[in-house]
Amino acid sequence: MEVGVGVEVRTEGVTKSFGSQRIWQDVSITLPSGEVSALLGPSGTGKSVFLKSLIGLLRPERGSIFIDGTDITTCSNKELYEIRKLFGVLFQDGALFGSMNLFDNIAFPLREHTKKSETEIKRIVMEKLELTGLLGAEGKLPGEISGGMRKRAGLARALVLDPQIILVDEPDSGLDPVRTSYLAQLLLNINAQIDATILIVTHNINLARTVPDNIGMLFRRQLVMFGPREVLLTSDEPVVKQFLNGRMIGPIGMSEEKDEAQMAREQALVDAGHHHGGAEEIEGIIPQMKAEPGMPVRQAVFRRQARVREIMHTLPHAAQVAIRESLDQSDDTQVMAAYGSEHPTAAFDTKTIPHGQING
Ligand SMILES: Nc1ncnc2c1ncn2[C@@H]1O[C@H](COP(=O)(O)OP(=O)(O)OP(=O)(O)O)[C@@H](O)[C@H]1O
Ligand SMILES: [Mg+2]
Repeated sequence: MEVGVGVEVRTEGVTKSFGSQRIWQDVSITLPSGEVSALLGPSGTGKSVFLKSLIGLLRPERGSIFIDGTDITTCSNKELYEIRKLFGVLFQDGALFGSMNLFDNIAFPLREHTKKSETEIKRIVMEKLELTGLLGAEGKLPGEISGGMRKRAGLARALVLDPQIILVDEPDSGLDPVRTSYLAQLLLNINAQIDATILIVTHNINLARTVPDNIGMLFRRQLVMFGPREVLLTSDEPVVKQFLNGRMIGPIGMSEEKDEAQMAREQALVDAGHHHGGAEEIEGIIPQMKAEPGMPVRQAVFRRQARVREIMHTLPHAAQVAIRESLDQSDDTQVMAAYGSEHPTAAFDTKTIPHGQING
């Protein structure tokens, strides 16, 4: 498969309101090309609105959104149509056509955007059905299958054009924990295979801890943080800690932000033995998942390492320590071991890695 590094997605100072309701403001973020990033944030902070803005379905009133260098907030409709072909998008609700069976739903982008023959289309659709565990269900209508299956069908459709940018809005919602792990593996495998730039919006803490190279978080109408996974996973920022541990204790409340008084009342309850709701206390970082053995090596890993080394001195101490540990663990021998002796050359194809960058 020929591979170009997935394209860069960059926003500069974007602000979005609906009427007088400000959703978020001044969001500047660069999704590193070909890496996997996750966007977290409490319900209603505008994650889906952000995703829809990235593909030009919603237009922010201020700021710019550059896709592959083109500002989609000012480009023509024709340019936007072309740029959309770079994307594969899984919307939060799956957004399948209710009157079409799964096969036709998944084939839709191929029929709309390519001149492929029906034989070729069938081959691709069947491949994606298999990838998402839906073989056999292709004749069913969206209304006849489970929520998790609809979600997977939406993902299959997002993948048919081998997109360079993949946006997935809560891909895990409605999936059981086992399917969620398979899905996580699938996203990393895809990243290894086509080097797509991936953004995952999720509430799933496991997924956030184990899948992305970079993590960001929206809260109180701001992008509170975005950076290498180690930065958020070791952060002392109360909102980040609370979210990653799924506790009631912290600045995030059931509806709006909490005030100091409520935080104090809740803390007193927990101090008196009341359960805060979080199921586990994870301190530090659990290792990131890898692409499966037999897959090409994920080039994003090396690009990220080079990038992270460059910005290392700007990062908080705890993140630096965690990054150094992860760099130590990614020695050639360990990578070899992880990929097993059956694929010794797949593990470290040095020809495709710019040396200056890895050794940085
Ligand atoms: N088309 C729209 N018109 C008006 N308001 C909207 C529109 N789309 C979203 N909103 C509002 O924007 C805010 C953010 O919505 P959004 O769906 O982006 O949240 P979210 O972070 O994705 O939440 P969740 O985690 O529950 O999916 C909400 O208050 C929502 O009501
Ligand atoms: Mg949403």
